[in-house]
Amino acid sequence: MHTVPPGTDPAELARIALTVAIEAGELIMDERPDGLGVAETKSSATDVVTVMDQRSQDHLLARLGGLRPQDGFAGEERGGRAGESGITWVVDPIDGTVNYLYEIPAYAVSVAAVVGDPTTDGTWQPVAGAVVNPVTGERYTAWLEGGSWRAVGDEEPRRLRVAETSLGQALCGTGFGYDADRRAWQAAVLTHVLPQVRDIRRLGSAALDLCRVAEGSLDVYYERGLNPWDIAAGWLVATEAGALVSDLYGHAPRAEMTLAAAPGLHAALGAVLEGAVEQVGPENVR
Ligand code: IPD
Repeated sequence: MHTVPPGTDPAELARIALTVAIEAGELIMDERPDGLGVAETKSSATDVVTVMDQRSQDHLLARLGGLRPQDGFAGEERGGRAGESGITWVVDPIDGTVNYLYEIPAYAVSVAAVVGDPTTDGTWQPVAGAVVNPVTGERYTAWLEGGSWRAVGDEEPRRLRVAETSLGQALCGTGFGYDADRRAWQAAVLTHVLPQVRDIRRLGSAALDLCRVAEGSLDVYYERGLNPWDIAAGWLVATEAGALVSDLYGHAPRAEMTLAAAPGLHAALGAVLEGAVEQVGPENVR
């Protein structure tokens, strides 16, 4: 695996991630156009959400460019930059865009500093990150070997630990992609998972799902089809809280699968998912 470039302090990167994520969160709240979620405007509102996504990302690009001009930048929206420092910022300017559209308070700005090449699965890893829900004020941060931390409002950050539990007692988060064929596959796999767990939650923000695993307000989370910007910061928040975060076969999480839980539960749900994939058909999960 890649190492942190000499002279780089992951704790300082986490502080920067948190600062800019809070700013972008304020921007998407303060500038959120009135009536965005009103039924008759929803189709055109999708474009407005895209505009807000782009504005949030532009803010992150400008601020990180000012603070860390040698670093690279990659985000969900248009605009990236190659870097020279060995650090690339991977950002999701609004993770949970459908919740943002409908004014459901489960969306976040996700900002991570990663080493390696975030455009190639399995070749990169996060070293610092922050996930901020601007509606609830929840702020999650983590840095390599520094633990994961959560604070709301002015409270002191509290260190997070994952909860181990049995599969039958596990509250399981998952999500669905935007592509219809992928959703059909995800629904088929879900029929194998649902009878085995306490219940399922589909919260609508992968970044927040991973943070919830870290704090134990979800026991396990899995999803197929995620992008680096969806998982980069949450992956580290979960890992630093003691979770295993991987694909189905113990490698780095990637588009084909992200599975996050305390180790025993990770193995138990991993076995169920492997069995489901055997029966449903692999697509390109393997
Ligand atoms: C989406 C959310 C959602 C997940 C989707 C992602 P976006 O990200 O994380 O929870 O199920 O797969 O695409 O589009 O809101 O940034």
